[in-house]
Amino acid sequence: MSTKKRRKVIAGNWKMNMTPTEAKELAKGVYEQVKGKKGCDVVVCVPFVDIPAVAQIVKGTIIKLGAQNVHFEEKGAYTGELSADMLKAVGCEYVIVGHSERRQYFAETDQTVNKRALAALNAGLKVIICVGESLQQREEGVTEELVRMQTKIALRDVTAEQMANVVIAYEPIWAIGTGKTATADQAEEVCGQIRKVIGEVYGEAVAEATTVQYGGSMNAKNCEELLSKKDVDGGLIGGASLKAPDFAVIVNAATKG
Ligand code: 13P
Repeated sequence: MSTKKRRKVIAGNWKMNMTPTEAKELAKGVYEQVKGKKGCDVVVCVPFVDIPAVAQIVKGTIIKLGAQNVHFEEKGAYTGELSADMLKAVGCEYVIVGHSERRQYFAETDQTVNKRALAALNAGLKVIICVGESLQQREEGVTEELVRMQTKIALRDVTAEQMANVVIAYEPIWAIGTGKTATADQAEEVCGQIRKVIGEVYGEAVAEATTVQYGGSMNAKNCEELLSKKDVDGGLIGGASLKAPDFAVIVNAATKG
């Protein structure tokens, strides 16, 4: 059982994988593997079209449902987008905001990430806000400055009360889908810097209560070491979340320590 005050959150980001039929099977598999687990929140963030199928499977279980993006307006002429109210209406409790793939391929900026986070929080969703540096930025030695800036801007106008519904995911871009995980010490260092900036904005109590995840090639083999670090409160998992047994190993590791 965790001795930390913070909620640990293990979230699968299925990205653009799984048709509704496949999603149902995977959700069933995850349920079978994680049922009865205590000590961490388990979330699956699935493609929009899979939400109804997965909602049916996870309803009433410990698994919480999430989406991978949300628009910042409540309604209107935004072709292809979905509002926070729509996500809530189909059973989502969480939404990922500002994933580096959205920033890289869909021109998300720190400002739109902030707007999306606010829209989601104001609608009563929990948000997983992603921050993280590229390899070049790490090599230039600006990781801390960058992650501080991303975190601060993403949280602009978010109240201290709303911080109870915020998870920050530190996802170094160079570690995503590459099999190159940050070392546990690197993950701990940046997660600690994120907690520090939260403390500067909201005070120590909020910083200590906020869940800060690591994401980037976290898998069944490396999860235990990463999750043993004091400032790493969970994981945002891509590839390994598509295999129920691997995802369950990560959930297990999070319930331990
Ligand atoms: P991988 O676990 O596949 O590296 O993906 C991490 C990620 O981007 C989760 O959001």
